[in-house]
Amino acid sequence: SRSVEAVGRMLKALEKKEEKGRVVVMTGAGISTSAGIPDFRSPTTGLYANLARLRLPYAEAVFDIAYFRSNPLPFYTLAQELYPGNYRPTITHSFVRLLHDKRILLKLFTQNIDCLEREAGVPDDKIVEAHGSFARQSCIECKTPYPQEGMREAIREKRVPRCVDAACNGLVKPEIVFFGEQLPREFFENRELPREADLCIVMGTSLSVQPFAGLPSLCREETPRVLINMEQVGGIGSRADDVLVLGDCDAGVRKLAEAAGWLEELEALWAR
Ligand code: OAD
Repeated sequence: SRSVEAVGRMLKALEKKEEKGRVVVMTGAGISTSAGIPDFRSPTTGLYANLARLRLPYAEAVFDIAYFRSNPLPFYTLAQELYPGNYRPTITHSFVRLLHDKRILLKLFTQNIDCLEREAGVPDDKIVEAHGSFARQSCIECKTPYPQEGMREAIREKRVPRCVDAACNGLVKPEIVFFGEQLPREFFENRELPREADLCIVMGTSLSVQPFAGLPSLCREETPRVLINMEQVGGIGSRADDVLVLGDCDAGVRKLAEAAGWLEELEALWAR
């Protein structure tokens, strides 16, 4: 199988190619833990291990649409901690930005709702927010949009907002994708893109939630898939050209950047 050095050489070659190379990146909560945002499933630090105070029937209920209908308060209790604004992108986010600057980023598929990839300077049209984000909110019954400022206030006050249409009075929730809800249209419009990739990089995700978890398997057999993660997940490692970079992703992207001759550039981009 390939080494980090080989992937670094490949990145450099993709940058030099007349017809720019195409890198697809897939990320999850693990790329934001060093920014101070907990992931979901890490054994002691993950969000799901720390929800006892919410008295949920099971941890994932806090993001379950049927449960939300009957009891929306636990979500709003948690929303305060997850609401974007207080966090700075990590060097892993900057690495994705660097791929874009090098004109080799085909698409970033993220499961994260923290908006840090946008903050790091990855443009909107390069990001598929597969699990939505806090950027919009609406009534779960009639879908009427709800104002951003009202949502910010409700979250600050741990209060459940209701539909602006008083006759409807449905529950309002940020347009993050709950269990039992459809993924956004942009996910389905772009889900075939991994087939076109020259290189696939998967970082900071347990790949345990479908349909997102199925994306890496769409890459062609000859496309190297690099996993930069604390643990081996999703069957990556099963193909001859898969590369495992196990450990912290900030350290992993530094290794990769070093191998491509981009480390100084990456550090400078992140320090800005
Ligand atoms: P998980 O918490 O399931 O997985 C995070 C992964 O990142 C784990 O494999 C960790 O070992 C790894 N990890 C944590 N910190 C890391 C670090 N510093 N460096 C490298 N790896 C690290 O989070 P996701 O895979 O994003 O959905 O979870 C997927 C979805 O499940 C989320 O989008 C969320 C959740 O329920 C919804 O809320 C709809």
